[in-house]
Amino acid sequence: MDLGLTGKVAIVTGASRGIGLATARALSAEGAHVVGAARKPSAELEATGALPVAVDLTDRGSADVVLEAALEAHGRLDLLVNNVGGDAGLGPVGFAELSDDDWLDVFSTNLFATVRVTRAALPHLLESRGVVANVSSIGARQPDFPPVAYNAAKAALTAVGRGLATEVSPLGVRVLTVSPGPTRTDMWAGPDGIGARFAAASGLTLDQVLDGAPEHVGMLTGAMIDPAEVADLLCYLLSPRAASITGSDHLIDGGAVRAV
Ligand SMILES: NC(=O)c1ccc[n+]([C@@H]2O[C@H](COP(=O)([O-])OP(=O)(O)OC[C@H]3O[C@@H](n4cnc5c(N)ncnc54)[C@H](OP(=O)(O)O)[C@@H]3O)[C@@H](O)[C@H]2O)c1
Repeated sequence: MDLGLTGKVAIVTGASRGIGLATARALSAEGAHVVGAARKPSAELEATGALPVAVDLTDRGSADVVLEAALEAHGRLDLLVNNVGGDAGLGPVGFAELSDDDWLDVFSTNLFATVRVTRAALPHLLESRGVVANVSSIGARQPDFPPVAYNAAKAALTAVGRGLATEVSPLGVRVLTVSPGPTRTDMWAGPDGIGARFAAASGLTLDQVLDGAPEHVGMLTGAMIDPAEVADLLCYLLSPRAASITGSDHLIDGGAVRAV
């Protein structure tokens, strides 16, 4: 299926590894020009052909740096994937253990970074009648697993996507949310990831934790998600083939969220 993404200019945030890297790779394979932002752009990102931009997206000026890089290289912007996020290294800590700074860290990474990049990108997306896709989480709808600050930030992100879609879709800009369940990236499977911290707390090995994660979270498919699956869903939603899809939140969670 030709997704019609050839020649489109896309910014992907959090593009050095995991879901962002898979998305940069998939968009590049579809013929898009990708600008990938991360604090430490990786060799794998460069290998996709993307233009790497080294920025900490929690810094206030970083959104302008990313936009300037995209516009200088390609003169336009069509697609924005707000993928940057994570639990800021908190792990499965309870509410009482979360400090003000922890809440601010998590909201900076998962919400404010996306708000700033989207605000800087919007005039250009209005001009190109482009698309915004935000990467949220099943935690936004089902905030059962700590830290609650992460789920709350993702719930806010999902709400921002819905509200922005209402505002800008009549002007030609679609806004989508994709909400993954446990996906096999560093966030879960890396040496400092959720799995490792859960293993340390429970006495299990990392492999045991990762093998048990799908059942623990209630996934019906029994397997963690491959980041390439999330990237493929994003590519479809970003493409003109999804021209009538806007404002919606798309679960990719192995059936973990049961609510209708
Ligand atoms: N993995 C899952 O199970 C899962 C489930 C639901 C939702 N999600 C969401 O999916 C998105 C991607 O997660 P992932 O699993 O792919 O995580 P990951 O493997 O940890 O990758 C996170 C990416 O974000 C970048 N990043 C982090 N903080 C940054 C900052 N302050 N400024 C710039 N870049 C930053 C990282 O690069 P640098 O370190 O080089 O900056 C990296 O490229 C996140 O929003 C996450 O919340 C993940």
